[in-house]
Amino acid sequence: MRLGHWEGVYGSKDESELSWHQDDPLLSNKLITACSPPAGSLVDVGGGSSLLGGQLAQQGYEVTVVDISVSAIERAKARTGAAGATVNWLVGDILQQPDLGLCDVWHDRAVFHFLTHEDDRHAYLACLHKTVRPGGHVVLGAFAVDGPMQCSGLPVERYDASSVQLVLGDAWSLVSTEQELHTTPWGKNQLFFWAVARLRG
Ligand SMILES: C[S@@+](CC[C@H](N)C(=O)[O-])C[C@H]1O[C@@H](n2cnc3c(N)ncnc32)[C@H](O)[C@@H]1O
Repeated sequence: MRLGHWEGVYGSKDESELSWHQDDPLLSNKLITACSPPAGSLVDVGGGSSLLGGQLAQQGYEVTVVDISVSAIERAKARTGAAGATVNWLVGDILQQPDLGLCDVWHDRAVFHFLTHEDDRHAYLACLHKTVRPGGHVVLGAFAVDGPMQCSGLPVERYDASSVQLVLGDAWSLVSTEQELHTTPWGKNQLFFWAVARLRG
């Protein structure tokens, strides 16, 4: 069901029809570079067709982009072009807890918020925990509590600082939070909540 939904999306819509599309993932880049060691390692979970992986690879990062949809990965590669030559592009379901090695920063924009069942959140968080090295960070962007109740036609969980801390658990300490007003390609505003948290270690 998850895979079918996302293959359907990337197989039928172009960038101008994706609510989450950004020409330039500026805030993600800023938050990652602020918490990462220089030229650190990054996993972008559910990277979709974003240019973020290629940008960070060009900035010297060791980048892995993983997405459940082969069409998303193919589109990201095509959009990124030469900038993505060193990116490790992976097709995989994060809930199956693939081996992603160890990274300094885990980035998620608009993926975790789709997990409305506790079992799925547990599977995701187990993968997060085994992939981020102690002292590393998660950069998490989800719809804010005043944001939309659906994304891509699917229900979402919405977050603020206390619910992010609660869901991450005591192993993680919040470093910073902020809200972002994202504008869809068709001009609708969506309120995102961003959290950066550090894995104690
Ligand atoms: C709303 S889009 C966000 C894409 C990208 N992060 C961005 O900000 O442009 C959600 C993405 O998560 C991917 N995704 C959904 N569930 C996933 C899963 N279980 N494992 C890996 N990727 C997943 C989808 O294929 C899609 O590309």
